[in-house]
Amino acid sequence: MKVLIADKYPEDKIEKIKNIGYEVIYDPSLKEESLIEGLKQHNPDALIVRSTKVKKEMIYSSDKLSLIIRAGSGYDTIDIESATERNVFVANCPGKNSIAVAELAFGLILSLDRRIPDNVQDLREGKWNKNEYSKARGIYGKTLGIVGVGKIGQELISRAKAFGMQVIAWSRSLTPEKADALGIGFMKNSIEVASNADVISVHLALTEDTKNMIGSDFFNAMKPGSYFINTSRSEIVDEKALLKAIDEKGIRAGLDVVSAEPAYKEGEFPDDIGRHVGLYCTHHIGASTDQAQSAVADEAVCILDEYKKSGMVLNCVNPSE
Ligand code: 3PG
Repeated sequence: MKVLIADKYPEDKIEKIKNIGYEVIYDPSLKEESLIEGLKQHNPDALIVRSTKVKKEMIYSSDKLSLIIRAGSGYDTIDIESATERNVFVANCPGKNSIAVAELAFGLILSLDRRIPDNVQDLREGKWNKNEYSKARGIYGKTLGIVGVGKIGQELISRAKAFGMQVIAWSRSLTPEKADALGIGFMKNSIEVASNADVISVHLALTEDTKNMIGSDFFNAMKPGSYFINTSRSEIVDEKALLKAIDEKGIRAGLDVVSAEPAYKEGEFPDDIGRHVGLYCTHHIGASTDQAQSAVADEAVCILDEYKKSGMVLNCVNPSE
């Protein structure tokens, strides 16, 4: 059986895939047209991608393709409907990069409070300004509000507690009992989180229900001057409403995901959002630690191994009836 890996993938895990009996074609440069060509040329049984988009024309360009593995958690980058139509299974690697994302979310919280990126930028420009950067509030005893208490949200809870924060949350499946067991406050909806927290972090998967879920109602409910973090998907947040809240309510924000995210890994970023005052944007690197990528790649190896042995697809997100 043949696997095409169309994104960066750890060398040692490629060896593992070979050792379980797959022929491996590794070309992390493939995307759009070149991915279509690559699929036609190699006609693989399985395709592994990170955030490279897998569209209908790609799914239809290989006769043998029967499995797509999303080496990550969110699979909104894959046309699931076309995959299902074509009897191609799609599997993801949930939870394997949760710690990395929670670490970045926490890094953004501390960055917002101490304005670490601006501190550094000023010194790089030869400016000393202890007066200005001494104005920080501190996060000890403050309330962190989490919207979406899945694996990443739960990793954030323990980190917030270690910093002496109170935690409140809303999540689709959170109940008062579950909240008690996690040692956090139960909120009935996301707006309640917005109005009661000093720092808010969003950890939702992108679905039809969560698209644009965080909009002007949410930002109107937030306390003036509070902090807002999104490391999930840009489509969940109404960016215009967020920028307005930053400008008019003194809200500070940290975003690892923006609507202007380029499809390429390196190049220009002309969008003004990267320069907006009161907002720190990072390069969608939440999952990008060696530890997380190694854990994700190991999970993909397990999926391939099981698929070869039994035909079963672990973590399948589009099981056939
Ligand atoms: C995920 O869905 O796992 C994260 O957003 C990471 O995506 P990436 O693999 O494209 O960095």
